[in-house]
Amino acid sequence: MRVLVAGGAGYIGSHTAVQLAEAGHTPIIADNFANSSPEVITRIESLVGKVEFHEVDLTDRRATAELFASCRPDAVIHFAALKAVGESVERPLDYYETNFGTLFSVLGAMKEAGTKILVFSSSATVYGGDHPPFTEEDEELVALSPYGYTKLASERILTDVAAATDLHIGLLRYFNPVGGHPSGTMGEDPRGIPNNLMPYLSQVAVGRREKLTVFGDDYPTPDGTCLRDYLHVMDLADAHVAALERLAKGDISVRTWNFGTGKGTSVLELREAFEKACGRPIPYEIGPRRAGDRADSWADPSRAEEELGWKASRTIDDMCADSWRWQSMNPRGYGQ
Ligand code: UD1
Repeated sequence: MRVLVAGGAGYIGSHTAVQLAEAGHTPIIADNFANSSPEVITRIESLVGKVEFHEVDLTDRRATAELFASCRPDAVIHFAALKAVGESVERPLDYYETNFGTLFSVLGAMKEAGTKILVFSSSATVYGGDHPPFTEEDEELVALSPYGYTKLASERILTDVAAATDLHIGLLRYFNPVGGHPSGTMGEDPRGIPNNLMPYLSQVAVGRREKLTVFGDDYPTPDGTCLRDYLHVMDLADAHVAALERLAKGDISVRTWNFGTGKGTSVLELREAFEKACGRPIPYEIGPRRAGDRADSWADPSRAEEELGWKASRTIDDMCADSWRWQSMNPRGYGQ
């Protein structure tokens, strides 16, 4: 299939573009480098050969419609959005404009071009229940930040659109994607101080940050630090291919799938695994809790296994080894 990867220069998009090509599909990447770099395209091409790339601001409806008219994709995987929770609280309007703007442009352009398949990046951040594992059937959903609200509302918008059209839509709820391509060619490259744990650990290991601050050790968990379901980005990239191929069968209107391993790992456990992977000490201190963090979150990933034949296969040690390979080979990320 010719697959438009909207936001394909980003962290998950770039890995997905590579896995699409490996699976025999043709990725067509669109990005405006708002939170990424042209170097990503070079890296993708070093792995899978020449790819079609378009520099487009996907909030621009006309430009998006022109893009679809020229490349006529069979399907879209829509990653193009802003994703930092804290920043979304400070700049809500930017988040609403960008995350809804790109979604509306893509849906409008799909209608004009006759593209029927859409895979959408949602997040486990929508789960509001007290006790994991979370299943797709859970009805207690929340929006604790403007970012979270864009995910929850986009799911609703897409559910309404699916009911009224003949589109085939997948809503993919990611848990905590980490790691990078096993070659060390691609990985996560946040701008500024990382908000997320794995890139922070990597930057301490490589000497860009002095020490990790663990946000709270008084949670009701075995070691007092939060539990999360870390998932290798290569497993997640494969999940997009599986969802796409399932939607292409044409019998699904809209379906939600969780992508996680089904296991929780604590902040201290991940720090220890990373220390082992990089062979360097990762100094840390315990700090106060971060506002908005929940004690624990992990997936029930059984629906994805039953319906897509997908199961996470990479371990926490693989995730740490690949994050470290990426960071040590590219200490400044894509800026090198
Ligand atoms: C965060 C977002 C979530 C988003 C996801 C994207 C919040 C509250 N949640 O998930 O909405 O979908 O990123 O990947 O921001 N930690 C530290 N020290 C650090 C960084 C993190 O102790 O310097 C801890 C956090 O308290 C948390 C765990 O590490 O317990 C994981 O944090 P993070 O990687 O930011 O992911 P989430 O908070 O789960």
